[in-house]
Amino acid sequence: MLKKNTITLKDNSTGKEIELPILRPSEGTPTIDVRSLYRELGYFTYDPGFLSTASCRSSITFMDGENGILRYRGYSIEELAAKSTFLETCYLLMYGDLPNQDELKEFDVIITHHTILHEAFKRFYSGFRRDAHPMAIMVGVVGALSAFYQEENDVHDPNCRLISAHRLISKMPTIAAWSYRYAHGLPFMYPKNSLDYSSNFLYMMFATPAEDYTPDPVMVKALDLLLILHADHEQNASTSTVRLTGSSEANPFAAVAAGIASLWGPAHGGANEAVIRMLMDIIESGKDVQHYIDRAKDKTDRFRLMGFGHRVYKNYDPRARIIRKVCHDLLKNLGANNEYQQLFDLSVQLEEIALKDEYFISRNLYPNVDFYSGVILLAMGIPLNMFTVIFALARTVGWITHWDEMMQDPESRIGRPRQLYSGELTRKYVKLEKR
Ligand code: ACO
Repeated sequence: MLKKNTITLKDNSTGKEIELPILRPSEGTPTIDVRSLYRELGYFTYDPGFLSTASCRSSITFMDGENGILRYRGYSIEELAAKSTFLETCYLLMYGDLPNQDELKEFDVIITHHTILHEAFKRFYSGFRRDAHPMAIMVGVVGALSAFYQEENDVHDPNCRLISAHRLISKMPTIAAWSYRYAHGLPFMYPKNSLDYSSNFLYMMFATPAEDYTPDPVMVKALDLLLILHADHEQNASTSTVRLTGSSEANPFAAVAAGIASLWGPAHGGANEAVIRMLMDIIESGKDVQHYIDRAKDKTDRFRLMGFGHRVYKNYDPRARIIRKVCHDLLKNLGANNEYQQLFDLSVQLEEIALKDEYFISRNLYPNVDFYSGVILLAMGIPLNMFTVIFALARTVGWITHWDEMMQDPESRIGRPRQLYSGELTRKYVKLEKR
């Protein structure tokens, strides 16, 4: 008789059977616990890219890719986008519940008062070439934070973890804005405590010491929304990188720097930059949209429709739906014939053609979060190479919350995948003169 909540695995070569427990999530896909598999049967599992592997338990973010659902701590992304702020969302992710008014005020004060970077960072920035990609600067500067906070480096102490989390969330806008200022030869602007999180970032990006600067409230709102939408996305490549790095008990600044490096790639956070480059190429080429759709389908061509497809979403990415609407409204606000409208119209045209095309339909390829976000960022005056930096700024709270969850999880171990070895068997060393 089979026990409930187990699955039986039979090795047909030996006839040996084992029962593996089925772990039931609070919501989502049941998961087979294979931890005893190697011990009992002497096998590993093979799953490149973790297509079917849950690497941890997590109670932070829920995704249902088939139905296009995303929730942070149980709250739908649609509701948070409509009603919350980025700072409140950070609190929600970190502490598990929405704050009351006093809690939010206190959190705001903490985050606001950790935004300044040590003065020595100015020299750190000036060590980079002027044309350095801001993501390269981010990886270096965030990693370097660990050299400045050595007193609170006990990763097993919850207070040390909390202060590190606060420092990262607070300093990321300063680090990001300064990487832009450095690349453009502009003076670094210090944060201003009277401004909210998103206004402060725009201030540090675009203000000059010579003039007063008030961030445009429409842009502030749009940025805050983008930050909410990018704040977390369960076990994606960069978050898994942060967890894997942190699993060796490395400090959180090093782990987040590793996450930033992972995010940089065009298959992950670099896609928003790649989308705009693709749209500009299409406009410049003068070729019609169908030509690019055909290229995306051609397996001999490495071109992919950037901003399309997702490992988990086999339906419309709920974040893309929200961003598309915001983008449309923002451009309307900027007035007719603004220079970004052409990019937006082209995106809509690409989407319409792709969603009717058998290739995209059969592979469940829909626009993802990056498909429309780039146009909004451009309209804010953010240069292309800063797009992924802003993604990193938003995702920092997700990374650090996952890291903290992992550090508290009694089941977590150093991440150490196994392999299916396909190399040579034992060989005899042949002396150099005899080869
Ligand atoms: N354009 C054309 N074809 C595509 C695209 C695309 N954008 N995305 C996937 N496909 C095709 C693949 O060629 C493959 O076809 P096949 O079955 O005939 O071989 C099939 O769809 C499945 O694609 P995979 O690459 O196996 O899917 P995977 O889950 O590994 O990759 C990924 C997902 C990396 C996001 C992929 O869809 C992609 O490269 N998209 C473009 C880049 C992008 O927008 N990335 C941002 C992701 S969201 C984020 O990180 C914020």
